[in-house]
Amino acid sequence: MKNKAPVLFLLAIFITGMLFGAAAKSGEEIPSLYQAYKEYFPIGAGVEYWDLLNHREFIVKHFNSITAGNEMKFASIQPGEGVFAFFRADEMADFARKHKMLMRGHTLVWHQQYPSWLFADGAKPASKELVLKRLADHINVVVPRYKDAVYCWDVVNEAVSDSMSEFLRKDSPWYKATGEDYIAEAFRLAHQADPDAKLFYNDYGTTRADKREKIYVLLEDLLAAGVPVHGVGMQAHWDIVSPSISQLETAIRRYASLGLEVQITELDISLYSGNDKRRFITDPEELKERLEIQAEQYRDIFAVFREYRDVITGVTVWGLCDARTWKDNHPVRGRKDLPLLFDLDYRPKEAFWEVVDFESL
Ligand code: GLA
Repeated sequence: MKNKAPVLFLLAIFITGMLFGAAAKSGEEIPSLYQAYKEYFPIGAGVEYWDLLNHREFIVKHFNSITAGNEMKFASIQPGEGVFAFFRADEMADFARKHKMLMRGHTLVWHQQYPSWLFADGAKPASKELVLKRLADHINVVVPRYKDAVYCWDVVNEAVSDSMSEFLRKDSPWYKATGEDYIAEAFRLAHQADPDAKLFYNDYGTTRADKREKIYVLLEDLLAAGVPVHGVGMQAHWDIVSPSISQLETAIRRYASLGLEVQITELDISLYSGNDKRRFITDPEELKERLEIQAEQYRDIFAVFREYRDVITGVTVWGLCDARTWKDNHPVRGRKDLPLLFDLDYRPKEAFWEVVDFESL
């Protein structure tokens, strides 16, 4: 057989079903995740349009904030120049309004999921002026449209480089077209378009000392230049071995020392550490052990989030449950991962109980 991924997926589903089935509780016995945190911070979920069509009740029960997983990205909203496709984002915003949920706007500027016309001028690359004008046009349409639903925006996503010898990502089409100016410009434009919105710089790797310091310097420079930045989004695509609690605390304190809010914007905890490129674990004992470690990791990081509740103004998990997660294909294609708080059938995992079971204020 050439592609074993579907078989592995089924096996994963079977094994996890065996592990979780016994602990099932009825709907009423399951506390609401966001209610457990109402004295602390809003609890959000990254949702896809599909989730909204199929799992509205589940979302309403457990979350009081949503982020559109894809529907507000540049390529989704403005696929052609001046051609806007709002319908999915609009439905998501309506859902948030109807259920009085918060909504995070995600994202105005990113080096991925952008439309190809954005950086082209006929056969030539678009000039800096043209790209910045297109950025202004985009922000001036999108941000006011969702003003009454979206309370904060990830204005710039992932501008900082992963390479030790580079500060900003020079291979980003934004950087290639404008140098570093696109960053400050995006924040200024977003602030003009909605002066009430909280504006975030969002990135992954935010607890890694080298990247953390680059992000710190970027934010420090922006603030010194009077650019309206209000918070740092720590994406938090983490795993069962990292970050350590001390790395997490150091990062939160470091960003907070700039007077910024911190939000956890895309939390999931993979069963596999970054350099573990194996296929799905098929030994039930090993899987059980990893899920236990995952539950402990969730317990410990949420304890830190609660401790820093004066700085942390929101925690968003990246997906609803293990049935659908981007980690299924990343970084190992076709490998099933189980990184969230609810299992394949939307039932609480051990990690969920560890997160909601704490001594409250
Ligand atoms: C990044 C982006 C998100 C999403 C994830 C993968 O973290 O910020 O919007 O695309 O990658 O799901």
